[in-house]
Amino acid sequence: MRTAKGDSPRAGPPDPAADVTSGRLRRAPENFLTGEQIHLVSKGRREFLRAGFLAAGAATVAAAAVAAPSAVAAGAGDPDILQTTPWGGSLGRPVAANPYGLPSRHERALARRQSPGLTQVAAASVSFTPLQGLFGIITPSGLHFERHHQGWHDIDPARHRFMINGARPELVRTPKVYTLDDLMRLPSVSRMHFIECGANTGMEWGNVAVPTVQYSHGMLSCSEFTGVPLRTLLEDCGADLRAARFVLAEGGDGSSMTRTIPIEPVLSGEVLVAYGQNGEMLRPENGYPLRLVVPGVQGVSWVKWLRRIEVGERPYAAKDEAIHYVDLMPDGQHRQYTSIQECKSVITTPSGGQALLDRGFFSVSGLAWSGRGRITRVDVSFDGGINWTEATLQTPVLSKCLTRFSVPWVWDGRPALLQSRAVDETGYVQPSYGQLRQVRGTRSIYHNNAIQTWQVAENGDVSNVQIL
Ligand code: MTE
Repeated sequence: MRTAKGDSPRAGPPDPAADVTSGRLRRAPENFLTGEQIHLVSKGRREFLRAGFLAAGAATVAAAAVAAPSAVAAGAGDPDILQTTPWGGSLGRPVAANPYGLPSRHERALARRQSPGLTQVAAASVSFTPLQGLFGIITPSGLHFERHHQGWHDIDPARHRFMINGARPELVRTPKVYTLDDLMRLPSVSRMHFIECGANTGMEWGNVAVPTVQYSHGMLSCSEFTGVPLRTLLEDCGADLRAARFVLAEGGDGSSMTRTIPIEPVLSGEVLVAYGQNGEMLRPENGYPLRLVVPGVQGVSWVKWLRRIEVGERPYAAKDEAIHYVDLMPDGQHRQYTSIQECKSVITTPSGGQALLDRGFFSVSGLAWSGRGRITRVDVSFDGGINWTEATLQTPVLSKCLTRFSVPWVWDGRPALLQSRAVDETGYVQPSYGQLRQVRGTRSIYHNNAIQTWQVAENGDVSNVQIL
């Protein structure tokens, strides 16, 4: 591992006595570009962005905020201060006009997006969370990434059944079928956890492939999940928890999604049969009415529309663990059953596709997470990993949950290479691309947790690059 060599002169906190103005940021292209334009950005053709943004955006609130100076000069007479605004001088809309509240119409560009050309069939595809536009650690349910192997369903909860049985009759004394009502009557727990698809950042194994953090890291979301510990249900069915070594989780959709889960996280009480997400029922796209929550483990094991758990003694070698979700190693062999999402982090602001419009102060911020526990430290570099500055971790810092970090930075207008490097409570340090490729090669799909680099050009454009 590289060692921290002390603070970079360009990376430290701003000197309050210095004449430092606050820098403005042009948001990522997903906020206003078409699929075709995103494609141009990913091909490195970005010149049109700045001019196009300022012209086309003049009519939009977001663009107006950027086109206008951030503070009106004294005495210039800002009409938004001097005149009565429409909302200050009229009756507003009534309560419950939207029985289920929606985001402001000014925020409608913040959306899940499919990567153009990634998959041919939209029902077996993925939509990415717009990490560049989120604050804190919780993903709004409507922006949670989606990964379906055979489309999603809005299942009638009254008709959904959940069964527990044993691979042998002795393993589960009283196999049971539960309705949702049965489950919701039991004592529940609520816990905050991240879920990351094992294929997150998978397109970047060989080289830079996508322009923005939404596509490079957006198969990542974090929610408060509510449900019943699977252990409670196994005990309710009289499972032999000393003989049990694995459980098989089975989904109710047409994809035959079945995954082997080792018994240890079940016995510890971590694995949940969940029906709640961020204080309400799960969204249909995320498994309504029931999904398995397997903290720290890759998303594919979080089986949605969960209909059955079988208690067994050996791994099941289901199709999505024997031939898919395997790691292609440099010697040509496949590694199976890699499931823990190792420690990883990414700077979300500023990030690829955005542009720094001024020199001055920026609060650089991002997310860190580990499938093995808590994040203990994040370092940020502004010069491609030569010097590192320790970031502030925002509370709460929870186990197997996203952690928000931030660090102040004064951009002096010179090119910079921004990186973040996370450490978890086991002492594991997030690897560089060079270190990861030494062990894993370049032809894998899954479990890429390498350090991400964003390059800031002299003109302020931020783009995706790789540093070994
Ligand atoms: N469960 C079922 N039944 N069917 C699926 O297609 N996709 C899996 C997992 N559970 C899937 C499933 C994959 S690959 C991932 S990454 C996560 O669900 C994604 O969860 P999300 O769509 O809620 O983000």
